[in-house]
Amino acid sequence: MNVAVIGSGYVGLVTGTCLAEIGHYVICVDNDEEKIEVLKKGEIPIYEPQLEKLVKKNMDKERLSFSTSIKEGVSRAKVIFIAVGTPPKENGEADLSSVEKVCSQIARSMKEYRLIVEKSTVPVQTGQWIKRLFRVNNSLSDFDIASNPEFLREGTAVDDFLNPDRIVIGVETERAASILKELYSPIINRKSSRSDSVPLMITDLETAELIKHASNSFLTTKISFINAVADICEKTGADIEKVAEGMGYDPRIGVSFLKAGIGFGGFCFPKDLQAFIRIAEKLNYDFALLKEVEKINKNRPKMLLDKIEKALGTVEGKTIGILGLAFKPNTDDIRLAPSIEIISLLQRKKAQIKVYDPVAMDKAKEVLRNVEYGRDPYEIARGSNALVIVTEWEEFQRIDLERIRDLMVNPLVVDGRNIYEPEKMKELGFIYKSMGR
Ligand SMILES: NC(=O)c1ccc[n+]([C@@H]2O[C@H](COP(=O)([O-])OP(=O)(O)OC[C@H]3O[C@@H](n4cnc5c(N)ncnc54)[C@H](O)[C@@H]3O)[C@@H](O)[C@H]2O)c1
Repeated sequence: MNVAVIGSGYVGLVTGTCLAEIGHYVICVDNDEEKIEVLKKGEIPIYEPQLEKLVKKNMDKERLSFSTSIKEGVSRAKVIFIAVGTPPKENGEADLSSVEKVCSQIARSMKEYRLIVEKSTVPVQTGQWIKRLFRVNNSLSDFDIASNPEFLREGTAVDDFLNPDRIVIGVETERAASILKELYSPIINRKSSRSDSVPLMITDLETAELIKHASNSFLTTKISFINAVADICEKTGADIEKVAEGMGYDPRIGVSFLKAGIGFGGFCFPKDLQAFIRIAEKLNYDFALLKEVEKINKNRPKMLLDKIEKALGTVEGKTIGILGLAFKPNTDDIRLAPSIEIISLLQRKKAQIKVYDPVAMDKAKEVLRNVEYGRDPYEIARGSNALVIVTEWEEFQRIDLERIRDLMVNPLVVDGRNIYEPEKMKELGFIYKSMGR
């Protein structure tokens, strides 16, 4: 099938590449000329395991190409995915201006039937709004709108796309449903390490749109819940890791997403949570539960700062080493990462900052000011008064802790992700502070 993906960022590039991998002919479009130039050379502008190899392979097989022209994408493809960003506006609402722009361009370029698929995360009822946009910009051509929310996780995006937990398709016509079923059939029918077959849900547009915001908001609720319990653990001497384990054996609760720490970040959870709160408000529903989830999360960096200050007396003039900038391991994405807020809080208190991340330092250089970058954790530890674990990269779990201790001015480790064992850290002579233990 011929497919166009408009927006070639984390989601668009993975979607386009994986659709090519399962045999479709895909053109990925982006208005960022530099990005498209890089992609045309078979290089990828983001860090995402497995992706570069698949991009090269499918370009070689002439199933994957890149362009800056929406018109070209629309003329070549029957199915057009919209995968542009939907960042938060000042008030937390999803900013749909890129979606609007792209839809108007697609509509004006269309000469015959096209299926337009929302891949970007958009508020419920956006599909109806897109339909109106298309009618305004093109009253002649036939089209369908579908919602196909994306659940991939950065860091495991390729595997998530090719072996998803479920595929959700929101449609209004049988024609749209059958095109998308055919498009995804190689994935639906493949047995994977995760399952024998992939559940396919066909719903109306609004239900599919809502599944995405409800899913992400539920996951953030789990994280904030366990972080609130971690605070109770600190006040009582209980151990959050054991509490979470004990809770997780109950299959109704499950173990995943019960990891206490410095909270969630990234380009999805914080903005989708905010957007869902605003969506509810517009519908005259006060989603107070989610407001509390957001409040708990926003307070996490401050809580970490309090721990550092309590241990050091003051951070003013002290050197604080930060290990990890990406919002989670295996990605270079620092959008809305807790690291940014933590560093900003420390800098406001006049601390000197040294940072290291295995892959996110180039991206960080565009955002962070007045920080020193190190080549590895040891360079960061040298001369530091405290070492703060912000991202749970596997590399940090394997470091030579004795060497780290000897390089530091003060053997203080504040572990925002609970990656070390308190007993072992004590034995090694560290002052060790973690979350909820
Ligand atoms: N990143 C994730 O893990 C993830 C997961 C699921 C869903 N989503 C959703 O997918 C959407 C995209 O997220 P992302 O992380 O890929 O964002 P991104 O910023 O990495 O990518 C968006 C791309 O769209 C391009 N773009 C913007 N305006 C354009 C235009 N007018 N014409 C052509 N291209 C244009 C940008 O240049 C950029 O390359 C968002 O709605 C997001 O919420 C993201």
